Amino acid sequence: MRVIDIHNHFFPESWPDLAVRYGTPDWPWIKHTEAGKADIMVGDRFFRHIYSACWDPEVRLAEMDRDGVDLQVISATPVLFAYERPVKHALDCAQLFNDAALELCSRGKGRLRSFCQVPLQDIDAACKELSRCMQSGHLGVQIGNHIGNKNLDDPGVITFLHHCANEGAAVLVHPWEMLGRDRMPKYMMPWTVGMPAETQLSVVALILSGAFDRLPNTLRICFAHGGGSFAFLLGRLENAWHHHPVARGECQHSPSHYLNRFYVDSAVFDQRTLQFLVGTMRAGQVMLGSDYPFPLGEERVGSLIRQSNLPQDTKAKLLSGNAEGFLRIKTESSESGADRSEVAAAASPPVSESGRLTYSSYLKVPELLELQQPQSSPPHHDELLFILVHQTYELWFKELLHDLDAVVANLRRAGAAPQSHDKVYEAARLLRRCTEITRVLVEQFTILETMLPTHFLAFRGMLEPASGFQSEQFREIEFLCGLKDEKMLRYHRPTPEAYASLKRRLEEPSLRDVFFGALQAIGKLVPPSANVSEKEQFEARARAVHELYKDEHHHRDWIDVCERLTEFDELIVSWRLRHIQLVERVIGIRMGTGGSTGASYLKLTLDKKFFPELWEARTLLTE
Ligand code: HEM
Repeated sequence: MRVIDIHNHFFPESWPDLAVRYGTPDWPWIKHTEAGKADIMVGDRFFRHIYSACWDPEVRLAEMDRDGVDLQVISATPVLFAYERPVKHALDCAQLFNDAALELCSRGKGRLRSFCQVPLQDIDAACKELSRCMQSGHLGVQIGNHIGNKNLDDPGVITFLHHCANEGAAVLVHPWEMLGRDRMPKYMMPWTVGMPAETQLSVVALILSGAFDRLPNTLRICFAHGGGSFAFLLGRLENAWHHHPVARGECQHSPSHYLNRFYVDSAVFDQRTLQFLVGTMRAGQVMLGSDYPFPLGEERVGSLIRQSNLPQDTKAKLLSGNAEGFLRIKTESSESGADRSEVAAAASPPVSESGRLTYSSYLKVPELLELQQPQSSPPHHDELLFILVHQTYELWFKELLHDLDAVVANLRRAGAAPQSHDKVYEAARLLRRCTEITRVLVEQFTILETMLPTHFLAFRGMLEPASGFQSEQFREIEFLCGLKDEKMLRYHRPTPEAYASLKRRLEEPSLRDVFFGALQAIGKLVPPSANVSEKEQFEARARAVHELYKDEHHHRDWIDVCERLTEFDELIVSWRLRHIQLVERVIGIRMGTGGSTGASYLKLTLDKKFFPELWEARTLLTE
């Protein structure tokens, strides 16, 4: 298994006296104390003990061999950012250390690559230096998590991040200049308390400002130290977002929606925390980062991941697979075919060599076409169809979740601004898309029905215990719409990240809740008092819908939403029915690979409804 460390630091053995060079005091300098040891000083102040691994590639490579690390992506340290200095000095300083990083890498036997630094206080200068560095061989850039009082959602920083995406530069965000330092003079508290808070602040600023809605999803950005306290307090952020409009910011979706837009490193030093981090962020978003060779770094790089109880394929992702995608590099093992999907993900840059987007690179066609890997040997002709049909369903499920989340967001906004009808129309428009997609999903089963039952049985045995029960997205759609059944979580125990995201959906208000919340907010439904039973609440909700229909002239927009929701519900039942017909046609009344009684179990799901009150309202209507 290849191992790539994306967060570690270097210092050159010497550099010019910056205080003399720029005529200003308090620049970092290196004081060699004994053979192989040195202190970093900032002006007269001691900053940190370091040793020769910082500047000597031989020492570094020997320690990489000791720890089983194949590749390090080195960065300078935040103490050199100089964001508060005149841009001329900060740029010159960045160039000194960027060139020094490349020089060190050139002696690293192909096992050292680098991130540059840029004078982020001047966006034009920062963009120019980034472009220069990308051309000269850096893989991306390390930036501080703020520039004085400006957080990462500052318009200038967003422009810079756009530029990083265009240049194909990976971005590592490192906390620095910690808040509250006056209150943390002792015990390294700026590192142990300030840094995690700083990083959390940056992630939250990017999410709530809507930056991720505006930035291209080709941007590859990673937050150091496990993303600081972000993952642990995501629940708090979600809670605030859902229940307090003032905490919601500008983002289109709730904070959890953006977890796939950024990476975090694994520098968390505790097995339970690593498990939790992977569960929260998902295995595809966490990468080995060690903070080597600094005092708070991982002593044996990679040991936390190696010694964890995470599944092998997750460990492989954390140790190198994700980094290959993040850095857009190929490693030897990936080239030799250890994991073809990861290779593919890393292989194709978002732009062609000429720097222009192409059809294939934008749509990731090569990667997509690598993702069908039949298990039968020799390959059964129909297994490709079986895989493709399921993958197509999953892609449409993804779009459904994307649109249903947006419907929820629009209904919330509709409730918050009862005079405006725009959000209600927008919710109805998006729901129309959901019904059209589901109509296609119902139709699609016919393609699979061209497979003879004998042909399916020829490779069915290899699928066990995989089952549709494990379709995380299908269950997410159910939970999101309001059909929540905690028992179904058990099918996702083997995949902690799927388990965690389903659990989150289970706890979040559903589309059904948000719809009726909006009716309350616009005064069409009285909020239930404390001791009202479920049944009474249900009846009150159905009556509220009934009232809307009775006054069609004034509530056309809301009635349209009701009709679309009802139609969606209806189409999901059609999907269930067609799926049962397919199952009976292909395997008769056999048991399912997920352990259910098969078709007879599935028939019990036909009565399930996402929005039962909307159906009940129809019974209440009189001639
Ligand atoms: C040869 C084709 C298929 C067969 C024989 C089949 C069989 C089954 C069976 C027996 C179950 C019950 C759970 C179990 O015991 O495994 C099930 C559930 C499920 N299947 Fe299929 N299936 C087929 C195709 C599909 C396709 C194309 C999809 C598309 C995504 C799909 C999605 C699901 C889902 C989401 C469930 C869970 C349903 C629920 O819990 O309500 N299946 N399938």
